[in-house]
Amino acid sequence: MTAHDVRVSGTGKLAYDSAQRSTRRLDDPEILALARRLVVFNVGGEQIAALMDLARKSIPMLTSAEVVQRVASYNPDCFWAIAHRDKFNVNAPAGEGYVSFLPLTKQGLSQLLDGTLDRRNPPLSVISAQHEKPAGIYVWHVYAPGKLAAGAPLVMQKMWTLHRHDVDVYSWSINSEAARFVEGMGFRLAPKLAGSTAPQFHLFRRSMARHQETTLCAMPSPLSPDLRISVRVARTVDDFMRAAVLRGAVFVGEQKCPYDEEFDGNDFTATHLIGYVGDEPAGCLRIRYFADFAKLERLVVRKEFRGRGLARKLVSSAVEFCRTKGYTRICCYAQKRLTAFWNKSGFSISDGQREFVFSDFEYIEMVCDVKRAARTISFETDPYVVIRPEGSWQEVGILERSKARGARLSTAEGAAA
Ligand SMILES: CC(C)(COP(=O)(O)OP(=O)(O)OC[C@H]1O[C@@H](n2cnc3c(N)ncnc32)[C@H](O)[C@@H]1OP(=O)(O)O)[C@@H](O)C(=O)NCCC(=O)NCCS
Repeated sequence: MTAHDVRVSGTGKLAYDSAQRSTRRLDDPEILALARRLVVFNVGGEQIAALMDLARKSIPMLTSAEVVQRVASYNPDCFWAIAHRDKFNVNAPAGEGYVSFLPLTKQGLSQLLDGTLDRRNPPLSVISAQHEKPAGIYVWHVYAPGKLAAGAPLVMQKMWTLHRHDVDVYSWSINSEAARFVEGMGFRLAPKLAGSTAPQFHLFRRSMARHQETTLCAMPSPLSPDLRISVRVARTVDDFMRAAVLRGAVFVGEQKCPYDEEFDGNDFTATHLIGYVGDEPAGCLRIRYFADFAKLERLVVRKEFRGRGLARKLVSSAVEFCRTKGYTRICCYAQKRLTAFWNKSGFSISDGQREFVFSDFEYIEMVCDVKRAARTISFETDPYVVIRPEGSWQEVGILERSKARGARLSTAEGAAA
């Protein structure tokens, strides 16, 4: 049994049952230090039933207590009660709210993502035992009315033991209020799997948490999270290292391009996209910008990751990125042997067919003409959107959040302090 303190009043209003929302992100390192007024603890079967009866008044479609008791008997980490500290009696621990989880095996996660998992009555075979590392953690139910909402992130941190610290957490919101609640904790709407009948999940990504790049696209794989393809904007020197290693392996290693020709002096004036398979950098692409066109170049996919659609995903993400920047003409200089690949990605041989040779290959100019994106970043765009991280224009950015601090250094004295 563990007790936590929560400085609810000190951090503003944290609530689940109103328009107020938690802004306390799950990965906030201060979350435990803020604990003061709540306790979080495991409970037995009768308590589970009692808490679920309470919850059922707000969530009528809730599954039966027997199902949850069966799951919690198999893995006690699946059910956590929350109570106010001042009402808590260690001799008769009684919860006022709760959070339940399904730590899922690979098979369970793939069933969750493709919509075939029976979430009302999940088989134990797809639930990880307490000692096992799950492939993904599904937030099954959250019943945390009023200030108990502050306990939800604390409970979720219970799932962050050593063998689960880098496991992604999934949640499905029954309504927009619940969606706002999980988004306040740092969850983001995950792209829906093509062809899936599963509901749209929110994802709190921890497998990639150490990478601070922007996700342009993420394709949750129905097979395994290790095979999931995602594309991110490079933001740090570390990210650029990934691109340099990938290009070094493919262009310098495989295609024998001289180093000075590969790293041509244009890398620090460009946008780099990195493609991942699971957590592994597997491919990259560079975008450069000119007056009336953007140019895609330096496309590579590591040999062992070819043939699974990553290059196509990098190209389509780059085209979307350029459209959002307002470009309607995107070009590439394709190695002549690869015109079929570029063609499949929407590029065609341009009028005049300029052809040339460099770095020991024959190239041909190919063009993709597109419409400006509906939400192009233009001079009229809200400045708070313009200053968001590149490619993350749909998400509230760090500078936007800083406005809560006000212009406290505006005066000459403030700036000098
Ligand atoms: C070219 C390259 C980027 C393709 O990567 P990839 O991840 O295997 O490609 P994808 O799986 O996304 O393939 C997308 C489509 O293009 C096709 N394609 C891929 N490589 C191709 C090739 N060499 N020739 C013709 N078509 C090709 C695929 O069959 C697929 O078509 P489909 O959707 O109809 O099945 C990769 O082979 C590579 O890195 N090559 C070395 C570097 C290089 O030459 N870069 C290009 C510089 S212009």
